[in-house]
Amino acid sequence: MNLSVNINKVALLRNARGSNLPDLVQVARDCEAFGADGITVHPRPDQRHVRYDDIPLLREIVTTEFNIEGKPERDFLDLVLANPPHQCTLVPDSPGQLTSDHGWDTVGQRDFLREVIAELKKKGIRVSIFVDPDERLIEGAAETGADRVELYTGPFAHDFHNDKAAAMAPYTKAAEVAARVGLGLNAGHDLNLDNLKYFREHCPGLLEVSIGHALICDALYYGLSNTIRMYQRQLKG
Ligand code: PXP
Repeated sequence: MNLSVNINKVALLRNARGSNLPDLVQVARDCEAFGADGITVHPRPDQRHVRYDDIPLLREIVTTEFNIEGKPERDFLDLVLANPPHQCTLVPDSPGQLTSDHGWDTVGQRDFLREVIAELKKKGIRVSIFVDPDERLIEGAAETGADRVELYTGPFAHDFHNDKAAAMAPYTKAAEVAARVGLGLNAGHDLNLDNLKYFREHCPGLLEVSIGHALICDALYYGLSNTIRMYQRQLKG
């Protein structure tokens, strides 16, 4: 089970001053040296985090798994095709969205997704699509040609402290459906040091989590190297 570190928040900090501090490329290298299994970036159209011109540099130096997330508009697809990562995660963001907060309607948007996914797969890129833990939508994802789904874990994280078992139940079921229809399984959003271990223990077949916000916040207190080790312990311990 892989930990992909989302470095968008590092780019946000860099962009605040218009210089190259912190150096995103060096941070990506360091995350890998500290034990990350992959690097995730999510270039948004407004480029407020990772910018489009960061992508070729990161593509060059990432030696683990490089995952580019984003809404499949033409500019984004051209960027991904020109700098093919190991994986591209398609997200149905609206313009200006603060953060991703829902998955695809894999049934209603099946034909659109099929077309985009075929284009990416022709380049040898593994494609994952962001979905809510809903049986019908995961079955729909299997019809799009995607290799994997990434379960949107925001609601799990939100409800975790009220009732863990109830918060987890739809995800365990979703994991079973994904396995039945032959989809690999990723997960992400609002995972943190409190909820990660419980999530992975109850999510059979989980291949990868991508974690950004909480991990970078924890790094302010523990340092990046310790923090990555702490997350890996929750995942693999
Ligand atoms: N997965 C997707 C599709 C996302 O958009 C994000 C946020 O950029 C994440 C995972 C990571 O979420 P978080 O920053 O809450 O760990």
